[in-house]
Amino acid sequence: MPVPTLTIGATKLVMDRGDITTQSTDAIVNAANTGLRGGAGVDGAIHHAGGPTIMEECRKLGRCPTGKAVVTKAGRLQAKWVIHAVGPIYAGLTSDNTELASAYRESLMRAVEVQARSVAFPCISTGAYGFPVKQAAPIAIGTVSKFVEDNPDKFDLIRFVIFTDADYAAYFGEFTRRGAVRG
Ligand code: APR
Repeated sequence: MPVPTLTIGATKLVMDRGDITTQSTDAIVNAANTGLRGGAGVDGAIHHAGGPTIMEECRKLGRCPTGKAVVTKAGRLQAKWVIHAVGPIYAGLTSDNTELASAYRESLMRAVEVQARSVAFPCISTGAYGFPVKQAAPIAIGTVSKFVEDNPDKFDLIRFVIFTDADYAAYFGEFTRRGAVRG
């Protein structure tokens, strides 16, 4: 089914409804916490579906500061890699925006390092961490677009995987504003 698509050089940015754990992209991104200790939401779903080897690797890595990302293998998941990104706990500060942008940028840096050519993102920080999705969507899409512009030929596909109606509306608005077509 055609989905909203932005084309940047050789890379497609798409948004689609779905579950992050069933994505067949090379890498999927986890909405993790600084202790890399698992949780609910995306984090719980990934560890549940991927099995215990992901947590074993997370324990070895230890911690990950807010705005950063680390990578593990993906256990039983279809993806090869899980990129554990830590978004900010929303507090209404300017630093929330910069930390969220950093979490997306760092995720793509890890993806380049492991040569993942396709990456699926959930809406980092918009669940338990309370970041308003209308504010988060332009940061997510804008940061990823800029990274892809600055790193041509690194990615074939970036997919934003959307779980809720409110998230879909916010992402659709931003994709449309940027001239997305149904691809
Ligand atoms: N696939 C895709 N998106 C999902 C899924 C899923 N299986 N489950 C939830 N979501 C959506 C939520 O609807 C929300 O919009 O992902 C977004 C992010 O929500 P959270 O998973 O709560 O992530 P976040 O807000 O970044 O909070 C991170 O929550 O689970 C804990 O350990 C995690 O402490 C960390 C915190």
